[in-house]
Order: sequence, then structure tokens, then C-alpha cells
Amino acid sequence: MTLIVKRGSLPKTPHTEFIYKGNFTLEEIHGSQGFSGPFSRKVHLKSYPTEQVKAPRKANFGFAPKPYDVSALLQPHLVQTKDMPVGGDALTGRKCMVYGLNTKVSILKPNASFPEKTFFRNTEHYECFYFQDGEGEFKSEYGTIPFRKETYLVVPKGTTYRIDLKSSSLYALVIESKFPIEWPPHYMNHGGQAHLTSPVIETEIELPELPEPIDERGDFPIFVQHAGGKVTEITLGHHPFCLVGWEGALYPFLFDINNHHGIAREIHTAPPVHQTFHSGLIPHMGFSLCSFVPQMEGWHEKEIPAPYAHYNVDSDEVMFFCNTSYGAREGVLKEGSFTFHPGGMPHSPHGGAAERSTKARGKMSKRLAVMLDTYFESLTLTDFAYKFAEKKYAESWSEKDNE
Ligand SMILES: [Fe+2]
Repeated sequence: MTLIVKRGSLPKTPHTEFIYKGNFTLEEIHGSQGFSGPFSRKVHLKSYPTEQVKAPRKANFGFAPKPYDVSALLQPHLVQTKDMPVGGDALTGRKCMVYGLNTKVSILKPNASFPEKTFFRNTEHYECFYFQDGEGEFKSEYGTIPFRKETYLVVPKGTTYRIDLKSSSLYALVIESKFPIEWPPHYMNHGGQAHLTSPVIETEIELPELPEPIDERGDFPIFVQHAGGKVTEITLGHHPFCLVGWEGALYPFLFDINNHHGIAREIHTAPPVHQTFHSGLIPHMGFSLCSFVPQMEGWHEKEIPAPYAHYNVDSDEVMFFCNTSYGAREGVLKEGSFTFHPGGMPHSPHGGAAERSTKARGKMSKRLAVMLDTYFESLTLTDFAYKFAEKKYAESWSEKDNE
């Protein structure tokens, strides 16, 4: 993040003595890309985040994905995530849908908060949640961020947090990346601001509010994800939310998908215009994360609003449909439909969608969808996702119903 944020109390000069309410505070740098990337300086009340009071142990759950054997066949998939059961807690409930060497996409549908005084830290991946439904509070060492439906929550690798539900359940997409998830660099000017023609504006993010530090002793388990979805339980002897202040450029934040300000042109515009976030070194690795929000379709007198067939050989594409108003897939979509189109084959609008879409020329669309395109990274469908897949999807382009 280019926006430097400051919360709570800190010494004016880094790494100098700072007494807070009689306590000699302790400094920590939460850094990325070694000592060279965006970082935040955290000031702990009186305990270091290294003070484990029990030996680390293997958690009784893990997030190592299991592939579905038939995914070795080259074929597109349509998975109905709405049909997946709701249940479990927000800590253990994420279910991987597709994964690759650097990227993982899961669905999370819990009906309970994290267990009390229990925390999670993903040290393998940066995370981005998209909340399809529900509301709650994301509580971390950086403070609290309330979240609601139709928002993205971006969480740096290594952040210690918990999730508390305010609704009876949640319905979320969880995107993980080995690389930072940030604004696309081409949206930023030399000063680090979003330039004046960018669809996203960095100041529209919602930031954590830092409460008073929690000064509490006891056993505080943190479940730490590492090394391919393994989870190790470590136990601190003090509450991990003990910061008196922090400042820097690495922190969790919320972004409302409706603040992706669509850009229209006279004729159809390719998906890069819908890009909200960037991860990795595009176009050589990583992914772009796009938001398809309602916007005016092209107004050329012969405009075809539906996209062309496309064959992006270096990208695997996954798409989560927040509603059914997506003209190119009309008739096959439900709320929460999840498509996976591997780069090895072209995909196109269904049946007569291209011709039908001409009626939408110059009109506002109602679509809402989240799309992720990888670069030079193949994804694999999981065993879990395949259970909810439409088994005849590969043949659905030739079905009469869609003409
Ligand atoms: Fe596509």
C-alpha cells in the first residue's frame, strides 16, 4: 500500500525508548520482501510476539488441498457454491476450490466465530476475502475493521487475527497469494497516488481502528498456516492484541466492490479495465483480480456487449458470480456460481448470448462478479469443489436451451 497510516501512540523517532503508561514498550517490524518491501512498525505494550509458553504442536486441522483426479482432463468447470453446506467456524471452515503453486481460492461458509481467545496467522499467503453475504468484525493486532457484504478485505501475510460474526452465517470467497495483493502499479502515479483516470482510488479504503492495548496473561493459541497448508498451533502467554501504536504501509484494509468505478467506452472493453487488485509480477507471474460491477454497455450503433470468445493461453481463469445478471452465461448461472476455465482451451458466451446482448447497447448492466486470472500458473480443481460441479458443463455451449 502506498498510503502510510498511523494509529495509537508511537515514539517520534523509530527504535528509540518509548514509555507508555509506565511500560517500556517493545518494537517489531512486520516486513515484506525482506527488509526491502512495504512494512509496518508495531509498538507492543510490554511483551514480544516471540514469547511462547508451550511447545509448538500440530493443529488438529489443516488446509492442504486435495486434487480431484479427473481434473487431469482438460475441461472447464462450473461449481455451485450456493449448494455447499453452511457450518463450522470461521477459523477452520475454508474449503479450497482451486489451487496452484502460488495461488489458492477457497469458499468460507461458517455459522460461528473463531473459538474464544483463538487466532489465525497465514504465513504462507497474503489473503483477500470477498464477502458475498453476512457481516462481522475482523479483529487484528492492527485494530478492528467491520466488514459487510460486497466488500473485499485484504490481509497481509503474517497478520494475527480473528473473525467474529455479527450475522448468523458468512458466505465468502477467500483468495490467497504468495505475493502481496496490492493496487495495480499502472493505476498509480509517480507519487504513489491513484491517477485521475484509475477505476480505483486508494483513499476509499476502510482502515482498522486501534483500541487500547489488551494487557492480559494466559494461554493464547495462534494457528499458523505454513508450508503447503500445514497448520501449527503456537501459544503465547499474553494477548496478541497488545499494540499501543503502529505506523507504516503494511496493514489490513477493506474495499467496497461498489467503489470500483467502472470505465465504459463506445465498444466492448477487455477485462483489464475491471482490474481492482494485482498480485505478483504481472505479466510473468501472479494474478489480476477483477470486479465486474454494473456499468454502461458500449453505445456504438453496432456494439455487441457480450464478450468475444477468448483463448488466453497463459492464464487460468476463475470467476465467482455474485448475481445471475451476466449476459454471456445467462441460463447456466445461479448466485454463487463459480467457473474455472483453464488456459488450455478457449471459452465463449453461451448459445445466442452475443446476438441477444445487442439489446443492451448503451444500457446499464446489473452484473456483479469477481474474476481472477493467473499468469503462467495452472490451477487444479479440488475433490471438494468437484462434488458441487455441474457434470455436463463442458457440453453446455452446444445445448439447445442456450440458443
Ligand atoms: Fe473469460
